[in-house]
Amino acid sequence: MSYDLLLKGAEVLLPHPSGKGLQRAQVDVAIRDGKTVEIGSNITIPAAQVVDLKGLHLLPGVIDSQVHFREPGLTHKEDLESGTRGALLGGVTAVFEMPNTNPATTTKELFEDKLARAKGRCHTHYAFFVGASPENADRLETLETLPHCSGVKLFMGSSTGTLLVEEDVHIERALRSGHRRVIVHAEDEARLRERKHLAEEGGHPRFHPIWRDEETAFLATSRLLKIARKTGRPVHVLHVTSAKEMDLLKDSKDISTVEILPQHLTLSAPECYDRLGTFAQMNPPIRDQHHQDRLWKAVLDGTVDILGSDHAPHTREEKAKPYPQSPSGFPGVQTLVTLMLNHVNQGRISLEKFVELVTENPRRVFGIKNKGRIAVGFDADFTVIDLKKSRRIENSWIASRVGWTPYDGMTTTGWPVMTFLKGRLAMREDEILLPSSGEAVDFEGTR
Ligand code: DOR
Repeated sequence: MSYDLLLKGAEVLLPHPSGKGLQRAQVDVAIRDGKTVEIGSNITIPAAQVVDLKGLHLLPGVIDSQVHFREPGLTHKEDLESGTRGALLGGVTAVFEMPNTNPATTTKELFEDKLARAKGRCHTHYAFFVGASPENADRLETLETLPHCSGVKLFMGSSTGTLLVEEDVHIERALRSGHRRVIVHAEDEARLRERKHLAEEGGHPRFHPIWRDEETAFLATSRLLKIARKTGRPVHVLHVTSAKEMDLLKDSKDISTVEILPQHLTLSAPECYDRLGTFAQMNPPIRDQHHQDRLWKAVLDGTVDILGSDHAPHTREEKAKPYPQSPSGFPGVQTLVTLMLNHVNQGRISLEKFVELVTENPRRVFGIKNKGRIAVGFDADFTVIDLKKSRRIENSWIASRVGWTPYDGMTTTGWPVMTFLKGRLAMREDEILLPSSGEAVDFEGTR
């Protein structure tokens, strides 16, 4: 008997024996046929390839469960090839892509079209969300069980694209159709309409968190939680940004899971708008330090389940339009890992906690099959990091079609240096060694 691959010498992030969280251990990991088959100290069985990872950490492959890759329809901003290239270079091994493309992913045919486009072109593993709309609200049960569907995404407030389910009656219909957790962009559309004049009169992105204020987020999340409880349907509130909303979610773990983004933990108002202008504009907005402090607290007290990037590229020309005609969103899939490792090095979060938010918890929340853990029988997707490496983030490094990042010029400590997909070395030190080797991700609760 022999193994295909043996990874030696790394500090490995393993599931904690208590079943909660992760722990580090100095062990070897052996892989055969794309799966982890043995974990132990000093494995001596021969392997076709042995990789020495001394001084490095071996993490389960990082899963980014919120990216917008713009294909079809908006491929001047991004496509599945360029988006997954950035992901792989940034240390991500699987992405779940959002339905607000053009056309939006609201039918079986459009969902299957995305899968067909992805096949053989993605550098990481992938899955797609279907979008809820008042028109398809009663058919979501069939859509969410399609193979490789990461779930249903519902926009309560409008953002980029046309997807919108703003009325409680339609939200309730959507939540009554199906069983899997529904993921939600929670901003109250009526309040957004009422207050839009504040953005128009202000004419500067500093007014973005004033227009889309914390009450806008709180109102929508409160309405959503009521409907979720009424229907018994679990929800996942995306990119939570505000303090009062987080207090509410802390007491709603029975029905809701929570996502936050690295940008809301890293940038704060008004500084980011003064420095970056519309390039810091996104929905829901970057808010002031008080809110950022509350988000950090929620990460540490267990309210937050998942960290995603909300990678949402727009071209420089589009971003340069006068506010508020400028589109919301910015790239992030390639910088997620290093930004968070920088926070680990600054002592704001433990490595174990960060890794849990991008591997173990997405596995649990979305029902991912065979991924998200380093354990026997699981897919051998790994992210290898050098916690001590310092380097400057630069626009020239960004693989996204749009070619920019709001973090250009920032030096971070802690970098991804290799990624393995199903036991094969796919990226090493900025070089893609195995292009287009991503495969569609499988889920519990699909056909
Ligand atoms: O800022 C954002 N941009 N928020 C969203 O909800 C959508 C995203 C995009 O697709 O551009």
